[in-house]
Amino acid sequence: MYTGPKPTLDKPITIPRLQALKESGEKIACLTAYDASFSTVLGENGVEIILVGDSLGMVIQGKSSTVPVTTDEIVYHCKATAAGLNNSFLLADMPFLSYSDREVAMRNAARLMQEGDAHMVKLEGGVLQADVVEFLSTRGVPVCGHIGLRPQQVHKLGGYRVQGKEEADALDMLEDARVLEEAGADLLLVECVPSGLGKRLAEQSRVPVIGIGAGPDTDGQILVLQDMLGITAGHKARFVQNFLNGEADSATTIPDAIAAYVNAVKTGAYPQPEHCF
Ligand code: KIV
Repeated sequence: MYTGPKPTLDKPITIPRLQALKESGEKIACLTAYDASFSTVLGENGVEIILVGDSLGMVIQGKSSTVPVTTDEIVYHCKATAAGLNNSFLLADMPFLSYSDREVAMRNAARLMQEGDAHMVKLEGGVLQADVVEFLSTRGVPVCGHIGLRPQQVHKLGGYRVQGKEEADALDMLEDARVLEEAGADLLLVECVPSGLGKRLAEQSRVPVIGIGAGPDTDGQILVLQDMLGITAGHKARFVQNFLNGEADSATTIPDAIAAYVNAVKTGAYPQPEHCF
């Protein structure tokens, strides 16, 4: 049973507050959610960023990848998630091919923010997306750049693999991060990279770097909600910890599982070496 602290959010999370967390060294706790009920529980238990991820294609729709997810579907779930928001910052994924050029990206980002009530949009890619990121951010659309493993590329990659293991690839990723930040990204998310590279990315970047399978030294952590509640069918990724009725000292209720996760991120108890690459 979880008996630790119950984190809360005393006021709305904003980009300057996320920046201040990075600067103070306090880790940022993030999770995905796709509806109002979970959005409320996450906010009540101190989750600073809620991502309406295109992972909904897999965990809500039961598909085998995020590729089929549409902007309409993200808008629908974003609107539902926004309705339950409780001081968390709302980040929405731009789905596959919804940001293939500046105009397409602007049209879809506008939908996520105006219809879905998102506070920021996330898109996958590095240097090649700099133009789109600059176009959006200079027109008032806050952007998160998603680097490292990019699940929308699964059919090109031939599977989900750790990225940036070779030094040349690591240097390319550091350059991706630098260029995205230069283009105006206010947040970076890095997925499935060796811990050393997660650390270098966080040290190099002025904006917060949120990791998933990127080691303990990024500025924050994110997991897919269903994964950390232990209800995802099939393969469990190495970086996943089940905080509900799972491993030692885990919670017996969903709100406690969320609180346990936030506390573990804040104290550095998650991730452990067995969750890292
Ligand atoms: O779609 C998603 O859930 C993501 C993960 C990195 C959390 O992008």
